[in-house]
Amino acid sequence: MPGKKNSDSKKGAPKKPLKDDKGLGESVNDELVEEEAVEEEQELLAASAESGAEADAGNPGLKNGGGIITDYEATIPIIIPPGARSPVDDIIEVLHREVIGQERAIDAIARALLRSREGFRTSGRPISTMFFAGPTGVGKTETVRALAKALHNDWRAILKVDCSEYSEPHAIARLIGAPPGYIGSDLPAILSKENVEGTTNRLILFDEIEKAHFRLHNLLLQIMDEGRITLARRTKDDPGEVSFEDCIVIMTSNVGAGDIEKILHQNRIGFRNTDSVAEIRSDQQIYVAAKEAMKNIFTPEFRNRLTEFIVFRALDRPSLYKILQKLLNISAERFAGLGFTLQLNDEVRDWLVDRGMDRELGVRPLVRAVEKYIDTKVAELHAYGLIHEGDLLEARIQETDELASDGITPKSEIVFYRTPRSNEQGGRKRKLPMKNQRTEIILRY
Ligand SMILES: Nc1ncnc2c1ncn2[C@@H]1O[C@H](COP(=O)(O)OP(=O)(O)OP(=O)(O)O)[C@@H](O)[C@H]1O
Ligand SMILES: [Mg+2]
Repeated sequence: MPGKKNSDSKKGAPKKPLKDDKGLGESVNDELVEEEAVEEEQELLAASAESGAEADAGNPGLKNGGGIITDYEATIPIIIPPGARSPVDDIIEVLHREVIGQERAIDAIARALLRSREGFRTSGRPISTMFFAGPTGVGKTETVRALAKALHNDWRAILKVDCSEYSEPHAIARLIGAPPGYIGSDLPAILSKENVEGTTNRLILFDEIEKAHFRLHNLLLQIMDEGRITLARRTKDDPGEVSFEDCIVIMTSNVGAGDIEKILHQNRIGFRNTDSVAEIRSDQQIYVAAKEAMKNIFTPEFRNRLTEFIVFRALDRPSLYKILQKLLNISAERFAGLGFTLQLNDEVRDWLVDRGMDRELGVRPLVRAVEKYIDTKVAELHAYGLIHEGDLLEARIQETDELASDGITPKSEIVFYRTPRSNEQGGRKRKLPMKNQRTEIILRY
C-alpha cells in the first residue's frame, strides 16, 4: 500500500537502505539490522579484502557493507519458509481475487514490484515499465484496474492514455501540450506535472500501444530511458520537466493478435481444456508469436528498455466459470439494492458459459451474456412492476416449442420465477411463472 512502512525487513539485510523511500514507499529499516550481523559482515569483508581486494576494487557496494564477492563459500542455505509474507503480498492477493486464470502473469508482476520495492531499480526511472501482451479480452486491462485497487484502493486511480487516439503525429500535442501559438496551446497537457507527479505508485496505462504513432513510442522510450519528459510549454521559472520516477508505467497490446488467433484455432483450445499439453503448447506459442510480432512494431531500443514483458494466456473453461461467478456477484449486489434476491442453478451457469464462450473474443461475450440474459431481463421485469421488494427470484432453463438452428434440438431460454413476499400470497409460499416470460427471454439465433 502506498506509504505503508515495511514491517517485513529481514535479519541481516544491508545496513543502508537499498534505495531511499522512492521504491514502493518503503525502505529497509536500519534499526532492524542486528549488531551481530554487522560484525559478521565486517569480518567477512575483512577476509575478502585480504583475499580479493584487487578484484573487488571497483565494487562500490563492498565499501558500504554489501555487494558481490568471490572466493567465499556460504554454509547456510536460505529457504523462504512456508507462510512467510512479502511486502507485496497484499497487492498480489487483490490481483488473484480480481483477475482469474492469469496466475503466471500475476506472479511476474509480483516479482517486478518486489524487485523495485527492494531497491533493484535504476534511480530516476519509473518504478517499473511493464508490457502486457496476449489475446483480446483475457484480463490485461482488468489487471491494471485491479492493481489500482490494490495500490490506491480505487479502481479508477489510473492515468489512462488510449493509444488508438494517438495514431496521428500531431495528436501527441495532447500529451505534452502544444507550444504557444499552435492549435491546442490553451489545453493542459495530459502528462502534466500535476497528473504524473506527487503520488507514489502512480499508475500510467498506455492502452493498445501498438496503435499509437511512433512519436508516442519515442516519448515512451524517453520515459523508460530518462524517466522524464519535457513539455512543449516552458517558462523561465518552469522548465516544463515531468518526472516519472514514482510511476508504474504499463502498456497493453494485442500485438501478434492474428497469429495468436490462428494458434488458438489450430490447437483447438481457449475455454476448452485445462492444463492439457495443447494448452501449455498454446501458451508457449502465444508467447513466441507476441515476442516475434513485437519486433515488427517496436525498435530494439524500445524492447530492450521494458523491465517486464508479460504475456497473458487464453482462458480455460474453469476460469470462465469463476469469472461468471464474479459477474453474478456484481449483479446480485445490484439486485440486493433493489430489495430482492436472485437464485440460479448449475444448468443456468452452463447455459450462460456456452453463450459467452468465444475463443476469439475472450471474456467479453460472457460479460455481454450476463448483461443481456440476466441484468437486462431482471431490470425489465422490475420496470414493469413484476418484481417486488422481498421477492426471491429464481432463474431456470426451459425448453421452448421452437427448434434451434440445427433443426433438431429445441431452443432453450431462461425463465424467471418468483417466490413473493409471504403476505402477498396470504402467507402461502408458492412459485409462480412470471408474466410475459417467453417474449422477454427467448433466445434468438
Ligand atoms: N482474467 C480475467 N479475470 C476476471 N475478469 C476478466 C478476465 N478477463 C477478462 N475479464 C472481464 O472481461 C472484461 C474485458 O477484459 P479486459 O478489458 O481486461 O480485456 P483485455 O485483455 O484488456 O483485452 P483487449 O486486448 O481487447 O483490450 C473485463 O472488464 C472483465 O470484466
Ligand atoms: Mg484492454
